[in-house]
Amino acid sequence: MSAPPKTVLTATPAEEDSIRHAVRHADVSLLGPGRVIANAAHVPALVPFLSDPAVSGPIYDLPRPVNADTVAQWVAACEAERQRGEGLLVLTMFDGEVGGYSKFTLWPDRASGELGGAMAAHLQGQGAGMLGMMAGFDFLFDVLGVRLVGLTAALDNHRSARNIDKAGFMRMGEREAVRADGTIRRSIYWEMTRDNWHRLRRGGV
Ligand SMILES: CC(C)(COP(=O)(O)OP(=O)(O)OC[C@H]1O[C@@H](n2cnc3c(N)ncnc32)[C@H](O)[C@@H]1OP(=O)(O)O)[C@@H](O)C(=O)NCCC(=O)NCCS
Repeated sequence: MSAPPKTVLTATPAEEDSIRHAVRHADVSLLGPGRVIANAAHVPALVPFLSDPAVSGPIYDLPRPVNADTVAQWVAACEAERQRGEGLLVLTMFDGEVGGYSKFTLWPDRASGELGGAMAAHLQGQGAGMLGMMAGFDFLFDVLGVRLVGLTAALDNHRSARNIDKAGFMRMGEREAVRADGTIRRSIYWEMTRDNWHRLRRGGV
């Protein structure tokens, strides 16, 4: 289960409505080529993608075990979140195969969000993850309209931690993330405000 950021913001009703509207009507092609909102037709391609431990091993909020039923339930739950304006599951599709996914989780009443995701193993280790993460953060702040983003990564996920630190997020201790099977994963925890994001981006991060 995703948990909202440690820092508690309060959105005005108008701000909350605006975030929900932005999520429901988001143009995910702004994130890059091949981006689509996940639907039931993607389940057969998602199962082998998520079954690879190099993809799903480090991520706490994926369905476990990974099979056609659990993945179909997850895709349906993400679509229900999208319709409430509280989440988006975005896939990167190349020739019918899943090259990566981004999961945006929103707490519109707190003007806050979270981003998680993974790339197929053969695409990892070439710097593409950083580009995808930066596009995702721009999307959260500038398209969906949140004022705060919280992130977690497993203590031993050095690539994620390196990229999140490089993007300028502030470390704020650790937190315990709960996996779908109820087991606990200890995580490094970061936050970034929209004002700081824009200041850093103007500075050329
Ligand atoms: C996490 C992920 C998105 C990172 O993207 P990537 O393109 O593979 O990242 P890279 O391999 O280019 O590495 C990112 C940085 O970590 C550094 N790095 C790699 N291994 C490292 C290690 N063992 N210790 C410290 N830094 C390391 C790289 O040098 C690079 O930094 P640099 O650009 O300053 O040189 C991608 O690997 C992925 O999808 N992993 C599986 C799922 C996952 O972990 N998702 C994130 C959950 S929070």
